Amino acid sequence: MSQATTPQKIYLKDYTPPAYAVKKVDLDICLYEQQAIVSSRLEMTRQAAGELVLLGRDLQLQQVSVNGEVLSSAQFRLDSESLTLIDAPDRAIVETKVIIKPQTNTTLEGLYQSGLDDEMMFVTQCEPEGFRKITFFPDRPDVLSEYTTRLEAPKTFKTLLANGNLVEAGEVGDDRHYTIWHDPTKKPSYLFAAVIANLQVLQDHYTTSEGRKVLLELYAVSQDIDKCHVAMQALKDSMKWDEDNYGRAYDLDRYMIVATSQFNMGAMENKGLNIFNTSCVLSSPETATDERSFNVKAVIAHEYFHNWTGNRITCRDWFQLCLKEGFTVFRDQSFSGDFRSKAVQRIEDVAILRSAQFAEDAGTLAHPVRPESFVEINNFYTATVYEKGAEIVRMLANLLGKEKFRQGTDEYFARYDGQAVTVEDFLSALSVADERVLAFMPWYRQPGTPVLSGGVQYEQDKVVVRLAQKTRHVPNYDAPVALPIPVDTAIFDSNTGQLLAEKMLLLTTDSAEFVFDGIQLSEGGHPVVSVLRNFSAPVRLEFDYSDEDLVRLVSFETEGFNRWQAMQTLVNRWLFGSFDNVDSIAGLLKTVTDELLDCDPMLAARLFDVPSQKELAMAYDSDYDPVAVKARRDEFIKLIACALADKTTTWYQALPIQAYEDTPLARGRRLLRNVLLDLRLLAGDAAAEQDVYYQYDNATCMSERLGAFTAIINHDLGKKSLYIANFYEKFANEDLVIDAWFNAQALSSRTSIDDIAALMQRQDYDWNTPNRVRTTLGALAAKPVQLWTQQGMALYLSAVERLDGSNPLLAARLLSALARWYTLGDDTKAMAQSNLEQLKQKVQSKNVLEFLDNMLTV
Ligand code: PHE
Ligand code: ZN
Repeated sequence: MSQATTPQKIYLKDYTPPAYAVKKVDLDICLYEQQAIVSSRLEMTRQAAGELVLLGRDLQLQQVSVNGEVLSSAQFRLDSESLTLIDAPDRAIVETKVIIKPQTNTTLEGLYQSGLDDEMMFVTQCEPEGFRKITFFPDRPDVLSEYTTRLEAPKTFKTLLANGNLVEAGEVGDDRHYTIWHDPTKKPSYLFAAVIANLQVLQDHYTTSEGRKVLLELYAVSQDIDKCHVAMQALKDSMKWDEDNYGRAYDLDRYMIVATSQFNMGAMENKGLNIFNTSCVLSSPETATDERSFNVKAVIAHEYFHNWTGNRITCRDWFQLCLKEGFTVFRDQSFSGDFRSKAVQRIEDVAILRSAQFAEDAGTLAHPVRPESFVEINNFYTATVYEKGAEIVRMLANLLGKEKFRQGTDEYFARYDGQAVTVEDFLSALSVADERVLAFMPWYRQPGTPVLSGGVQYEQDKVVVRLAQKTRHVPNYDAPVALPIPVDTAIFDSNTGQLLAEKMLLLTTDSAEFVFDGIQLSEGGHPVVSVLRNFSAPVRLEFDYSDEDLVRLVSFETEGFNRWQAMQTLVNRWLFGSFDNVDSIAGLLKTVTDELLDCDPMLAARLFDVPSQKELAMAYDSDYDPVAVKARRDEFIKLIACALADKTTTWYQALPIQAYEDTPLARGRRLLRNVLLDLRLLAGDAAAEQDVYYQYDNATCMSERLGAFTAIINHDLGKKSLYIANFYEKFANEDLVIDAWFNAQALSSRTSIDDIAALMQRQDYDWNTPNRVRTTLGALAAKPVQLWTQQGMALYLSAVERLDGSNPLLAARLLSALARWYTLGDDTKAMAQSNLEQLKQKVQSKNVLEFLDNMLTV
């Protein structure tokens, strides 16, 4: 095989507007057994200097004509990425005909086959650059066009869908049929979608605030159609929510969602025709855990919200990806927070931010929320763009307050509807409500997580809070500047627990002092200051709390997130050896659990959180020893379990299995019950084993069943093989549940690397289905003790190598989990480096090569 050439970098500063606009697109896709023929007609007009260049990849060009004249090969240049028409006129009707092979397209980009036999379907994935794998086109987000799509296929595929409204359907001979769709809204090519399949449909209606009656349709294979009700309700809730909170109503007569089993990401917001990974749309109590079901609702909302933030207002170029993703994630997080406890929502969002984004920002793949260069844009669908992007919007929303933020977003929608814009445009619209918004631009440009430090001094009724910030200097970027950091702060009385003051502080310089006057303390009391409440900025906090004050905050902080955070800080202090009082942590857990058991069991369950091994690894920039970290973490959990042994059984019994309900309370009870089950087994509670089997056997839903199943595996209980077989048999036809079966086994620390390898050898381990691939590799990445060994890396990297050829996007994503290899202790580090260097000799894709290049530059 040829050695790949150094991939080419693309820079934000090189942006130029497109030479031609495409007013109208007529696309005709005819599917045959071995191939598809795609004909397109583009109405193009010049709008800037430059040649008429159409992008295309893996297309067999049959013919190209301009204004009705077929071009000879002297009239165009064709290479592996583009088709350039020489001396094209300023007004050109460009027609092309190409052959593509969706049946053998394993990349899951462009038009590809998903599933086999009677579940076989053909779906598209165009974001960011998949449209060029379907037809020649100026495939960039700032070219907005009106699309008409004709689909033709054998009648065995009864479902033929494309964006917009159905305008015609009919037969072609005896065996084939077609549909024609027209999408009246102008859109970029990345929002194009088509589906050729044989699906069932669940229908409903929604009448918008503007009086439009919208047909809602969820498409899935027949055995899954009854698992679409949760998603349908979430869709209606989302439509209402966007009207109520942002004044945004839906704009077409039809909204379709299609579930497909082979998909690289969670879902895709194609205009009027979303395509979803089955894992993000299917849900039933028997097959989906509460966690997954809640995620289904969040992803439905996310894709729906894109209709305004992404589709109607889109990105000028892919450097602006956070413009749509950051804002949309913030919107879906707010939506989810309205359907559960806000504190728990925030805890979960921050946990994801910390474990995924902070790690990214601290490693070799660190990049700004708005990158300035890339080789492969697919590598930038990252936690930084999505999650940190959302945090920036959240800071702005908090700073402005509800009314002003709404004023700003109204301005954004009014000003830029129908356009492709930039982050600067977004801030400029919001600044109409408050000029301070403009100072947030450096958050988009500067990589690295700021460290916020500080402490408190007081004298009589005057309390001074000192704050300082520091961001590491990421190589190849400008020296860091001070960022505006909103720090939501409260002061409590140490004796009474009374809330004495609340204020949003805004740190805009390297350091500053903030004075609170007139603080009335009780006799002998001191001020307990709680900073960064509700995690008001995406920073690492190193605040000078005393252990005693943290204990106080766990009991009287009124803001749920910081209450949880105080407990987390204590746990971290124990894990890193600066706090030795495990009894005091256990004592707190007792009091708080007693208090929350009936009213907020979800928060109670979260208070038992112990940072994951991956998260703890973040604390080391060198000499990271995964074995020692895991040992310390295991020891802590065991000590806690034993210290609580007198309570866990009582609590567990207070949470008996009840008829299934999908309410925050019921979900909280189920989560807490599973947490307690695990603690009881750890403490060696003799009755616990029977309770586990009982919970599994009598489960009313997947959360209960999987909780018990996981406990059986993690604690290696006597009937383990029996239950592994039983679970498989019960759910053999449910791919997503079998994914959970793989994952629960792979995740257990008792499952060896050999065992994981054996799971990956199974017949039902399908390398073409990313969900299945992730069950084992995601688990291995979550077990640093196994991952960072010669054997673990060999297994992991052989998978990356294998996928590099078939699905480079997935290969690169998996690889990115290894970005902090250089923090390991010397021997392990050398081993990791040589493994990565060897991989570099064997891979071809831009995706994997770009990451490897960055990862090996330390
Ligand atoms: N735009 C999708 C989302 O965030 C994600 C996605 C990106 C899906 C690229 C597929 C390919 O909702
Ligand atoms: Zn998105």
